[in-house]
Amino acid sequence: MIITVASFKGGVGKTTTAIHLAAFLQTQGETLLIDADPNRSATTWASRGSLPFEVIDEWRSPSRIRRFDYVVIDTRARPAHEDLALLTDGCDLLVLPTTPDVLALDALTLTLEHLHEVGATRYRILITIVPPKPNRDGDRVKAMLQDAKMPVFETGIRRLSAYQKAAQAGTAIAAIKDPRALEGWQDYVQVGTELLASFGVPVKA
Ligand SMILES: Nc1ncnc2c1ncn2[C@@H]1O[C@H](COP(=O)(O)OP(=O)(O)OP(=O)(O)O)[C@@H](O)[C@H]1O
Ligand SMILES: [Mg+2]
Repeated sequence: MIITVASFKGGVGKTTTAIHLAAFLQTQGETLLIDADPNRSATTWASRGSLPFEVIDEWRSPSRIRRFDYVVIDTRARPAHEDLALLTDGCDLLVLPTTPDVLALDALTLTLEHLHEVGATRYRILITIVPPKPNRDGDRVKAMLQDAKMPVFETGIRRLSAYQKAAQAGTAIAAIKDPRALEGWQDYVQVGTELLASFGVPVKA
């Protein structure tokens, strides 16, 4: 199964999502993360510490993919129109992270228009960096997308400083000593569970 993480806007949590989805999927089967962002953020993240899966760049990937049960692809922000079509064609699901704010939603609208133009249907929106209550932006944006019949993950990813610590330490959030690290990990476990369920794949305990 190939999962691509993409968005037109930068800084919406693509790399964080790719790393944590890969960490979850590795608990379910052999997983590879392909770093297709020329900034090589995922590669740099991996080089600082240790992750439970392999990270390689897109130039080395084609021959390697076949051995893996799950492949997660992290991409650059603002893909060219043709790239988005290619990205969608080559994967089983496109995960589109967006933060619950106006600018990110404008960029998401643009992405969805492009996807519609190229006839893509296999995508799902993930609301990320959700501010804590009493702020309700995460819920509001989810309800809005659901009203518009957009495919959106039920689970949103909460805003937690432990994700930045994880990036610095070169690990997944679960390995970070922070009182809220486990909550962050659980968010991605739930997203991964939803993702697998959408393919009819049960999660192994
Ligand atoms: N759930 C979260 N809570 C708090 N901070 C987060 C969360 N997700 C990501 N971040 C932080 O937000 C910043 C951007 O995240 P990330 O690099 O994953 O986004 P990106 O979409 O891959 O960016 P780019 O477009 O530059 O590749 C980073 O500093 C990251 O640590
Ligand atoms: Mg990135």
